[in-house]
Amino acid sequence: MFTLPPLPWAENALEPVISANTISFHYGKHHKTYVDNLNNLVKGTDYENATLEKIINDTAGKPDKAGLFNNAAQVWNHTFYWNGLRGNGGGKPSGKVAQMIDAAFGGYDNFKKELSATSVSQFGSGWGWLAVEGGKLKIMKTPNAEPPFIKGATPLLTIDVWEHAYYLDYQNRRPDYVNAVIDKLLNWDFAAENLGRA
Ligand SMILES: [Fe+2]
Repeated sequence: MFTLPPLPWAENALEPVISANTISFHYGKHHKTYVDNLNNLVKGTDYENATLEKIINDTAGKPDKAGLFNNAAQVWNHTFYWNGLRGNGGGKPSGKVAQMIDAAFGGYDNFKKELSATSVSQFGSGWGWLAVEGGKLKIMKTPNAEPPFIKGATPLLTIDVWEHAYYLDYQNRRPDYVNAVIDKLLNWDFAAENLGRA
């Protein structure tokens, strides 16, 4: 059975950008509900002992498996999102990721503008992503529960732009939330780890 993975930091670790109150609902209610729903859906099926990635890849694009896909993908996405954030994070990365950002976007400022604009412009619920595909960095947005790997891109970092991610702290001001995450919370060590495995 699937379990809710522990957060990599205390619930108040992302304050003041994301409040402990938001984390408490987002992790303790939303993320947990995806885990509970997934466990109910896999009970007695071949997927009981499968990995999340296997379930997600098998069920992507299959309307009759939408419940399994959405819940498995949202469990995966949220764990990835938590690990991609940290207190005193954000700003300019260094090392290989920084070089690849310069190569792909012509510098950090352009990268930041594009990641922000793409994440803000996702219509309705979804995710903004920094991903790597064919050895090159790319910025993507995906609707609802979709992770980039079902389209062949390996994610490095993500920004949850579902309203539940920011509404308690920012109400309708999605751009303020997105920019604060980019400036103060992105965990570039996690991005470098993901790049190393890509
Ligand atoms: Fe979320």
